[in-house]
Amino acid sequence: MFATINGFRCSFADEGGGQPILFVHGFPLSRAIWQPQIEALLKNYRVIAPDLRGHGESSAPAGVYMMDMFAEDLQTLIAERQCGPVVLVGHSMGAYISFAFFRKFPQSLRALILFCTRAGADSAEGKIARENLAQRAEREGAAAVAEQMLPKMLAPPTAASRPDLVEPVRKVMLATSVNGLVGSLRGMAARPNALDLLPQINVPTLIIAGENDLIVPPSESAAMANAIPNAELVMIPSAGHLASLENPASVNASLHAFLGKI
Ligand code: MLT
Repeated sequence: MFATINGFRCSFADEGGGQPILFVHGFPLSRAIWQPQIEALLKNYRVIAPDLRGHGESSAPAGVYMMDMFAEDLQTLIAERQCGPVVLVGHSMGAYISFAFFRKFPQSLRALILFCTRAGADSAEGKIARENLAQRAEREGAAAVAEQMLPKMLAPPTAASRPDLVEPVRKVMLATSVNGLVGSLRGMAARPNALDLLPQINVPTLIIAGENDLIVPPSESAAMANAIPNAELVMIPSAGHLASLENPASVNASLHAFLGKI
């Protein structure tokens, strides 16, 4: 399905019925990373999964994609779909957006699931690395970003033995537009630190971490769980940064357990 929101054409899935769960993918990915969760949850829940601006099948306006801007896109989409307070599941950059969403639209949030992510802002070196990658993307296209990020996305055993996962993920990355890559890289570099926000999170929160995540060390997830009142932490075995695809059975069981009790 498509909707024109905030000046771009947003592609999204909206399936099932019941309590709405909003799945927000990370960088440089698309809602395809949630396919196993969408299939598992739509029997009991309403599942909404957009391709963020610049990603997947959505259009890609030029400019810096601030996390606030992505959050406004999500709020406009859920208002358009009339789906009330949502359980927001944010993967990595999708969770950076969730923090912006919590600051701006707390009334739209029923619960939070922070997936393979961190609350801190980029370090000074991290910001420089983002800008270098943005400039490479402008010169060389999506292949430069895929080449740098793909080796870190999946746990090493997954990368070595699961071409059925590696190749579709590569394809999704290569399909991300240059505007999407550059806009998101510069937006992530500019994002504020969310560490101060963690003690204020007052909705039920689940933190999911990939045991072998090379992008966000599981220790960061554990620290986040300690800082958010009553947050739960689940470590997904045999999974890296893309736990949703690498170990869907374990992720889906954790989602079902959490959603069943909130
Ligand atoms: C993501 O998966 O969204 C990115 O790895 C986040 C990041 O680069 O900080």
